[in-house]
Amino acid sequence: MQVDDIKKIAVIGGGTMGNGIAHVCALTGYDVILVDTSEALLDKALGVISKNLDRMIKKEKITEQDKTDTLNRIQKSTNLKDVAVAQITIEAIFEELNVKLDLFKKLDTVCSPDTILASNTSSIPITKLAAATGRPDRVVGMHFMNPVPMMKLVEMIRGLATSEETFTTATELARKLGKIPVPANDYPGFIANRILLPMINEAVYALYEGVGTAEDIDSVMKLGMAHPMGPLTLADFIGLDVCLAILEVLHDGLGDPKYHPCPLLKKKVEAGYLGRKTGKGFYDYSK
Ligand code: NAI
Repeated sequence: MQVDDIKKIAVIGGGTMGNGIAHVCALTGYDVILVDTSEALLDKALGVISKNLDRMIKKEKITEQDKTDTLNRIQKSTNLKDVAVAQITIEAIFEELNVKLDLFKKLDTVCSPDTILASNTSSIPITKLAAATGRPDRVVGMHFMNPVPMMKLVEMIRGLATSEETFTTATELARKLGKIPVPANDYPGFIANRILLPMINEAVYALYEGVGTAEDIDSVMKLGMAHPMGPLTLADFIGLDVCLAILEVLHDGLGDPKYHPCPLLKKKVEAGYLGRKTGKGFYDYSK
């Protein structure tokens, strides 16, 4: 499969990342099949895309017509079989190994043998997802950053069996989408989260041990290290459940106690305080 063979892209999961990926693919001119588990979730995803396109119109980056065309290119579906028409599928469902393995097995039966199966996983080994299919050479990681329409980076993950052709095609697709692809090999957390999550975890420990308040910890990193947002604010954006899942992958995969998730992070997730998406995390967003 060459990049010019790609005409239709299936995006599976229309949450935070999936709706952003669908937005960028459709705005670039690709036909998109967006799959989620209910009509209500799909409508919500389309609502978010529509709002984000409105923002781009306000900033005079696109026209009303671009918005209409983009939305018209996105077909919603709750039936996984509909992705069979796509030349590449980009998975952005929950960060749970068994849920993803189950999906990759299904995709392998639904899609034509030359379809590329990409995953936006933050931390699950691409090699493991690939091994659940009969086409491990055509499985690749495309790790987009949040918010997808704004962030330039796509970390391109090469699984142990990923073929050069698959890797090149997916990398060129990322470029066509206006992104800057950066290659990484398939080790826990890849590059981005191998470095980011221990920093976030350390910020949570600093809060847990009373070194500083959430505001003060974030201020130090913003003002002192020129980070655009503090680590606890960023954790709330990413989702505390997603942060915990990534730390567990780093801890299990690398076996070093330095990756042990802070008890406070675990407690927040147990309480359902998952960050912005639930209205509460390290900060309160309910007002
Ligand atoms: P989310 O929870 O916002 O969205 C996941 C969506 O997938 C939901 O709409 C859910 O209904 C849907 N879904 C679950 N199982 C499904 C299935 N079997 N078939 C179809 N749809 C299904 O999650 P989010 O944050 O968008 O994360 C998605 C993936 O992207 C995860 O692997 C995560 O690690 C990764 N990621 C997340 C980032 C973030 O900042 N949130 C950044 C980069 C990657």
